[in-house]
Amino acid sequence: MDIKSAVVPVAGLGTRLLPATKSQPKEMLPVGKKPVVQYVVEELEANGIKQILFVTGKSKTSIENHFDFDHELTRHLRETGKEELLPELEYERMRLQFFFARQRKQKGLGDAVMCAQHFTKDSPFVVALGDSILGLNAPSWAVKKLVDIYMQNGPACVIAVEEVDPEKIPSYGIVQPGDDREVFRILDLVEKPSVEQAPSNLAIAARYVFSPSIYGAIAQTLPDPGGEIQLTDAIRLLLEKGEKVLGLRLSSQDRRYDIGNFQSYFEAFLEFALSDPELGNQLRRYIREHLREDC
Ligand code: UTP
Repeated sequence: MDIKSAVVPVAGLGTRLLPATKSQPKEMLPVGKKPVVQYVVEELEANGIKQILFVTGKSKTSIENHFDFDHELTRHLRETGKEELLPELEYERMRLQFFFARQRKQKGLGDAVMCAQHFTKDSPFVVALGDSILGLNAPSWAVKKLVDIYMQNGPACVIAVEEVDPEKIPSYGIVQPGDDREVFRILDLVEKPSVEQAPSNLAIAARYVFSPSIYGAIAQTLPDPGGEIQLTDAIRLLLEKGEKVLGLRLSSQDRRYDIGNFQSYFEAFLEFALSDPELGNQLRRYIREHLREDC
């Protein structure tokens, strides 16, 4: 048995990116030449995923449209002599099936994952957050590794983690590792702790594999003070029940680009734009000149 299904939650309100996200999904913001969610879907396809369920919400139809075939646009490009742009739509041909479920009220990531229950049924599945890219313009094999670890060890869940600087600790779920190996047992995890309370600097990095037991845990998870059902709290419940939860340390090549706030969005955009084979060098020169003028 292998894991062929992934759930991509994209229903969040993205309030930290207002006003950019008032009427468009943060998952459709461009990073370099592509919207964030296209990187996520391409990564999943490269890692052997065959079907994707997007958990969507209000104002998210542009995500559905982005992955549809656009025959009219293709015809237009052909008829107007712009054939050189056709490769830009090549991603439409990915060998994937798309499904959509609606999260009717934004009650947190745990609640969003719960919307996938009828899709994944009794099978394990991948969760990939739609607002986070792994790796800079290079395919990340982290999802494949997570799947392999799941298959070999039969845990309740496997989570990708990465080391973060102390100032970023209060923005993420942080795990307490059992040891310092690449694949390790998670002893505890806390959502957005203070630096003092954090059990480590290992942050949950937007990719997971779950067994169906996560649904029972989410159903028993109480909302946080903000009314959101946190996926981290549900995983903690799995630990309390004595279930095995494993972590995978991401390599620096699989670095996570989080598009959840303006600081990290700007940094991600800049890094991807600078690494663009066509325009990167030009941009580098432009930035150097501007920095010189500023001095
Ligand atoms: P975030 O934790 O960044 O939450 O979501 P958010 O609501 O989108 O953003 P802020 O905090 O208001 O700025 C991480 C991922 O989980 C999805 C988001 O779409 C994003 O891809 N998500 C979050 C949901 O699908 N549903 C939710 O209720 C919350």
